Amino acid sequence: MVHIVSTINLKGGVGKTTTTVGLAEFLATEFGKRVLVIDLDPQTNATTVLVGEDRWRELNSEGHTLVTLFNDALRDENEEARFDLRATLQRSVSPVAEVRGVDLLPSSLDLIDVQDRLASMSSGRFYSNNPTDLLRRAVKPILKDYDYVLIDCPPNLGIVTLNGLRISDGYIIPTIPDVLSTYGIPQIQSRVRAFADNLGEDIHELGIVITKYRSASTLHNTTIRNLESATDLPELFNTWIPEGNAIAASAEFSPTSTLRQKYQYQGGYDVFRALAKEFIAATEEIA
Ligand SMILES: Nc1ncnc2c1ncn2[C@@H]1O[C@H](COP(=O)(O)OP(=O)(O)O)[C@@H](O)[C@H]1O
Ligand SMILES: [Mg+2]
Repeated sequence: MVHIVSTINLKGGVGKTTTTVGLAEFLATEFGKRVLVIDLDPQTNATTVLVGEDRWRELNSEGHTLVTLFNDALRDENEEARFDLRATLQRSVSPVAEVRGVDLLPSSLDLIDVQDRLASMSSGRFYSNNPTDLLRRAVKPILKDYDYVLIDCPPNLGIVTLNGLRISDGYIIPTIPDVLSTYGIPQIQSRVRAFADNLGEDIHELGIVITKYRSASTLHNTTIRNLESATDLPELFNTWIPEGNAIAASAEFSPTSTLRQKYQYQGGYDVFRALAKEFIAATEEIA
């Protein structure tokens, strides 16, 4: 059974992409899972981290990104669809040689534009074409090929994000443990709950992932205590991702042989491995 999980926070720069990509690489390499990353963020960071800037440019100019899928819905219904799932799906990505089993559906900067146009379309236009159901219908044929599908969402709850949530069994919220980064969590919970209720399906709160943690920071420690004691917020994963140079560098597409080299022993390797293990347990609990 495939587990599908969205990564959401209304803030940018809180480690969403780093968490998504790290989980994908560790789930595949350390735990033998087949993983698909779906990059829905117009910032395209997950895409460029996994295939590199040059390859992304090629794909983008060939129309082999998810923007083509959404554009199909925006054009005349009689026109032929241009989205080509097989050509868009990038197999065995990641700059780490030992990582096998991570595939990617790439994003495009043009998704910003699509987001606005989808939002401003009259509902009649979508009579037979629900705007939050486009991704689900497109990826249906390949979902069974994976154990995990991880969706990197843009920092909002617009139509593109809802397309990700539409197929998700659960979601995680990466956050820096400070006031600004955690501010929007209740809004995310209530909006996702309302969307799921509307669908008549469950989209579970898998938990909050603490990112860029600085143990010397009083603010970080206080915020974590507050998050832990709040009864109405999602649970915290026990593994906190520390702020670290190796993890910061993991945002670059730079070839390495192993995950140990990419994330370093003390910096990130042990942490991401532990997080991936917890993540597996959390997804199996809701299955
Ligand atoms: N644990 C960490 N330690 C140091 N830098 C980090 C860490 N996590 C993320 N970063 C850096 O912070 C920036 C934002 O992270 P990113 O994952 O892209 O956030 P988001 O997807 O939420 O915008 C990137 O430059 C990334 O390399
Ligand atoms: Mg990101």
